[in-house]
Amino acid sequence: MKTVLILGANSGMARALARLTASPAVQLILAGRNTKEMEKTAADLEVRGHGPKPFIMAFDAQATETHEKFWSQVLAKVKVVDEVYLFFGQMHPQAEAQKDFHLAEEMLVTNYVGAVSILERVAATMEERKQGLIVGVSSVAGDRGRRSNYLYGSSKAGLSAFLSGLRSRLVPAGVHVLTVKPGFVDTPMTAGMKKGLLFAKPETIARGILKAVKAKKDVVYLPFFWRWIMLVIIHIPEGMFKKTRL
Ligand SMILES: NC(=O)c1ccc[n+]([C@@H]2O[C@H](COP(=O)([O-])OP(=O)(O)OC[C@H]3O[C@@H](n4cnc5c(N)ncnc54)[C@H](OP(=O)(O)O)[C@@H]3O)[C@@H](O)[C@H]2O)c1
Repeated sequence: MKTVLILGANSGMARALARLTASPAVQLILAGRNTKEMEKTAADLEVRGHGPKPFIMAFDAQATETHEKFWSQVLAKVKVVDEVYLFFGQMHPQAEAQKDFHLAEEMLVTNYVGAVSILERVAATMEERKQGLIVGVSSVAGDRGRRSNYLYGSSKAGLSAFLSGLRSRLVPAGVHVLTVKPGFVDTPMTAGMKKGLLFAKPETIARGILKAVKAKKDVVYLPFFWRWIMLVIIHIPEGMFKKTRL
């Protein structure tokens, strides 16, 4: 049976991926802060007959001092973890985070430090076993620092750079690392934003992730058109870019 660990399992995109991944041949491990919510997801998957009841584990990305123990507990439960999907993330409005550094710090610690902390442990185990898959959900916001979202964006830029290096490190071990860069997605994270044509559904992103895993892609923009949007954005000369309101 394949074992799949989902970090940040209560996220809108993670729930969509869990629904698509669950099957009698897959043991899901849902990890996140709100265990009651994860219990609901697990019960729902079981009722729909999608496979064995997922395991639930408490995980806080910010509490990096607990990550070693968390990972040991996961391994004690399932012995081998075949695939890890990292979804957790924190986004506060730029204007608020500029006024209150604690909000900025929460994004930086969760999205970058927390991700590095847990994935370094996962990577070491997979490297030794010479098998595994790591999927990290970053963001198009990490491709260029924009005045409207650079505190969140820089945490995702760090994550994207980390995943790139990790991918290269794990090539000799045969462990694959996929970086996912979604654009706007209609989830609780964007609840306060006005929804436009560019917004995708979490199910679309989840399907795109699984397709990219199958195709062994290194980096995927979801939906695909964000690749072209970001290509334009990253090529605007800095002298012009710094004057835009993006
Ligand atoms: N929505 C978008 O437009 C968009 C675009 C690009 C990239 N992304 C990225 O996609 C990923 C999934 O986000 P989403 O859109 O599905 O948003 P979401 O539904 O708001 O999910 C975010 C999840 O992160 C979890 N989380 C936050 N801090 C955590 C911590 N310290 N420890 C453990 N879990 C923590 C939250 O858990 P709680 O329920 O406990 O708060 C929540 O379940 C995130 O990394 C996000 O940055 C989102």
